[in-house]
Order: sequence, then structure tokens, then C-alpha cells
Amino acid sequence: MIQLRDVHKSFGKNEVLKGITASVAKSEVVCIIGPSGSGKSTILRCVNGLESYEAGDVLVEGTRVERQATSIQAIRTKVSMVFQRFNLFPHRTALENVIEGPIHVKREPRRDAIARGHELLAKVGLAGKADAFPAQLSGGQQQRVAIARALAMQPSAILFDEPTSALDPELVGDVLSVMRKLAEDGMTMLVVTHEMTFARQVASRIVFMDAGQVAVQGFFMHNAVGMWFTPMALGTLADGLGLRLACLFLLALPAVGALCFLAARTLEFRRLPLREAERKRKRGSG
Ligand SMILES: Nc1ncnc2c1ncn2[C@@H]1O[C@H](COP(=O)(O)OP(=O)(O)OP(=O)(O)O)[C@@H](O)[C@H]1O
Ligand SMILES: [Mg+2]
Repeated sequence: MIQLRDVHKSFGKNEVLKGITASVAKSEVVCIIGPSGSGKSTILRCVNGLESYEAGDVLVEGTRVERQATSIQAIRTKVSMVFQRFNLFPHRTALENVIEGPIHVKREPRRDAIARGHELLAKVGLAGKADAFPAQLSGGQQQRVAIARALAMQPSAILFDEPTSALDPELVGDVLSVMRKLAEDGMTMLVVTHEMTFARQVASRIVFMDAGQVAVQGFFMHNAVGMWFTPMALGTLADGLGLRLACLFLLALPAVGALCFLAARTLEFRRLPLREAERKRKRGSG
């Protein structure tokens, strides 16, 4: 669905992407994690053609993304982007923000766009907020309008650039649960985030960036083995401690049982000669 092959990008003398190779398959959720300035946003911007690159290939559904190309508008309708700071039009209502793209870019009939706009606002938990302006909404609600706006373009994939990092902690959960639901519905997602719990629960793969390079790239295993190892790999030891102790206990039970059995058998063998001697003694005295 999305492929980056040895992508290089510089701002003047500052090479910010030093040969990035990564991919996102259909219905896959890939999280990008890394320190500030490592090139995470630049990757997303190259994928939807907001930024050009000097070498390598960025492909969306097999089409090369080139900023100057006439195909760029088509690519942007395939790949929507959700930004850290929502980027809603402040003078338009939530619904107007959502229907803007379908009407003006995709040339959909206004009535259809409005009907789907209402559906999408309901989907992100904002059914009653269609007529509210961004200033009348909380940060979390604005971000959910931005997600509805991204969905309105009926994209093949959505790029998220730290969608919760500008939010107060109590508003993060609602946005993440909307994203979790999208992932469950099979949306292809490339997500720059610092939310490790979200990444661990939802991502099928994680890309660690460092200074313009992919430092580590790994799969998440959503099973007991993966739950055991990934928190350790990610350094969130306390996170999985309870689960690990439970796993240890379960694994240890059969081992302890086997040891007890062996010990009993060994004692039995050791006692055999004694019992034989006892039997002989009894026979002799009888
Ligand atoms: N338009 C630009 N002009 C010049 N330099 C830029 C531009 N955009 C980004 N950079 C530089 O490119 C590098 C990577 O920036 P990028 O925004 O991709 O990092 P990031 O990993 O997303 O960081 P953060 O976590 O802070 O968002 C940084 O050194 C940044 O200063
Ligand atoms: Mg960034």
C-alpha cells in the first residue's frame, strides 16, 4: 500500500532522511517512534506529497509520489493526513470542515457529502456537534473532527502526525479509542506517536527512527510471547510486569510438578535395596 525505498531528503545541507526503507501493507497499522528532529514528520509529508525528496522512491498503491506531478492530487485523495494541531478551518463548523474536501476536491454532490459528514461525526462520537465551530470544541473534539474530515475523503490510508501530543491528558483517550476503532475496521494507518501503550496494543509493526535513519524495525506479536518480549524491548518494564509474573507462574507449575515427580521416583529407587533387605530379614525370621 505505502512503500518507501531508500528515500533521501535534505533541507539545504541538512540531510534529514538518510535512506529510509519502510512499508505499510493494506490494513496494517505501523507506528513511527523516535526523538524530536529524527525525521518522522518529514516521512509522512513525503508520503502525501507535501514535501519533495531527492533520491529513492515513495510509492502509494504502486504510484510514485512526486510533489510536482499532476498525479499528486489523486495521491492526496488516497492518503489523508491528521495533524498534531488539527488544522481545521476556524470560520467553518465541524460539518463544513468535514464536507469541504468531498465537495471541492472530489466533486461529490453536496447532499451526499452532508449525509456522510453526519455519519462520520457520529462515528467519532460527535453527533451533536455538527454546527459547532472549532473554537467551541475541546482539543480532543477538534482532533476527532479532523479524523472525520480525513475519513470523508474515503482514503486508502491515513497518516497521523502525533495526533494526541497537543492534547490535555484527559482528552487523549477519546482520540485514541477512535483510532483504535479505525484500526479494528481495517484502516491502513501510519502513525507517528509517543503513545507506547497505543502502539503496543494496536500496531502490527513499529519503526524506531534516529537521526534520519530507521534504527530498528520490528513486528508486534499480539500474543503471550509478544506481550512478554515487546514491553521489555521498549523499556516499559513495569508495564508488563504483572502479566510476566503470571506467565512465569504458569510456566513454572509443570516444571515444579515434574521435579517433584522425579524426586519421588529417585527416593523410591534409593529405598528399594532397603526394602529388599527388610523382606529377606522377615523371610529369614519367619
Ligand atoms: N521546512 C523545513 N525547512 C528546514 N528544515 C526543516 C524543515 N522541516 C523540517 N526540518 C528539519 O528536518 C529535521 C526533521 O524534522 P521533522 O519535523 O521531520 O522531525 P520530527 O521527527 O517530526 O520531530 P518532532 O518529534 O519534533 O516533530 C529537523 O532537523 C528539522 O529542523
Ligand atoms: Mg514531527
